[in-house]
Amino acid sequence: FFDIREPVLRPEDFEAQVRYVEDGLMLLSGGHIVWLGSWQEGEGRLALAQKTAGLEIDDYRDKLIVPGFVDTHIHYPQTEMIGAYGEQLLEWLTRYTFPTEQQYHCADYSKRMSKFFLDQLLLNGTTTALVFGTVHPESVDALFKEASDINMRLVAGKVMMDKNAPDALLETPDESERDTRALIARWHNRQRLSYALTPRFAPTSSPALLQKVRLLKQEFPDVYMHTHLSENVAELSWVKEMHPEHQHYLDVYHQYGLTGERCVFAHCLHLDDSEWDCLHDTDSTIAFCPTSNLFLGSGLFNLQKSWQKQVRVGMGTDVGAGTTFNMLETLSEAYKVGQLQRYRLSAFEAFYHATLGGARALHLDDKIGNFNTGKEADFVVLEPGVSALQKLRATNSKTLAEKLFVLMTLGDDRNVYSTYVDGEQVYARDALQGGRPA
Ligand code: GUN
Ligand code: FE
Repeated sequence: FFDIREPVLRPEDFEAQVRYVEDGLMLLSGGHIVWLGSWQEGEGRLALAQKTAGLEIDDYRDKLIVPGFVDTHIHYPQTEMIGAYGEQLLEWLTRYTFPTEQQYHCADYSKRMSKFFLDQLLLNGTTTALVFGTVHPESVDALFKEASDINMRLVAGKVMMDKNAPDALLETPDESERDTRALIARWHNRQRLSYALTPRFAPTSSPALLQKVRLLKQEFPDVYMHTHLSENVAELSWVKEMHPEHQHYLDVYHQYGLTGERCVFAHCLHLDDSEWDCLHDTDSTIAFCPTSNLFLGSGLFNLQKSWQKQVRVGMGTDVGAGTTFNMLETLSEAYKVGQLQRYRLSAFEAFYHATLGGARALHLDDKIGNFNTGKEADFVVLEPGVSALQKLRATNSKTLAEKLFVLMTLGDDRNVYSTYVDGEQVYARDALQGGRPA
């Protein structure tokens, strides 16, 4: 077992919070973690538990169990367009994204793609995600329904957008409010689901729409707000032109009360100092999406600055601008983004961002993110050496930090042996071909 015991406020502090139990035992009950310790220490408890209750034992010797990965920014209705060629953000939206998202007016299509999408998350070891739907309420109903069937912890919302997109994807501010309210009533705080108000980004939001988002956020303070911020330089100029009265891009959201706890901003690549300060002062969250930022040529996220400014950060795959659902691959790209700015992303820090850090970024660190007693039992069983190259490299790595670093550098979905949600196995690599157990 490997996890990070408590949230960390400085990268120097990771070593002190690392927990590694080489030959361990974890006891679960009712979807929660009851106990974690060494096998030796635990044997007495195990015998007692076996006597008093019917007990199932899953044996994963030689595997590495880590907390389920948390993806803090992903678009489920872009799954089928990963790897769309040749464009940067604004042209990419017009040429690929908007046509793809129009298919989600159909409830059956949404259902089929929701299943596919959740299977992809689980076979990659991701057990919680903050997810964009499309403008259609059907898209979000389908996704929540699938997640509720396995009692997954998921945050999602329908896109709110009333300009600068094809007519088929636009709504009026009144329709947006009505549909959003209905979805909140149906899904928010039901089982492990939460709702996120999801204005796509400033350029597709009129002042009247942002005003609706503000009123909903005031009325439902524990609902999330999820959007994009400062991703691409052409986007930045467009926002400046559109909102000359605002001090900077973030100010457009801030002036509408859309900063603060549970407000999550994807990308944040070209922020000026006052925007960083505003994110800190309001305790807003950033989703760092390295594969997307590289794929669309958007820029390099400054992770070091997020530590200096003490802003919450989680990892996002940002599928379909991102090129993988896999968190190990995402961490590997994050490391390279660090290298280009002379920032050394350690394996401990990287795994933290993908687990407890992501949970903290979503204000869920009291529920998920590590193996502390009482946490929800969402975890991944990793098999560290599956390829010849991984095995060769593993024989040459000594410390835990080194082993984890090799895993994130060479790892992918082949390394995910099994995934558990709410204490139940929802994916087993060898038992099935890329789906959930029946
Ligand atoms: N900005 C506005 N919409 C999108 C989107 O769908 N993907 C990304 N990466 N950025 C956006
Ligand atoms: Fe995105």
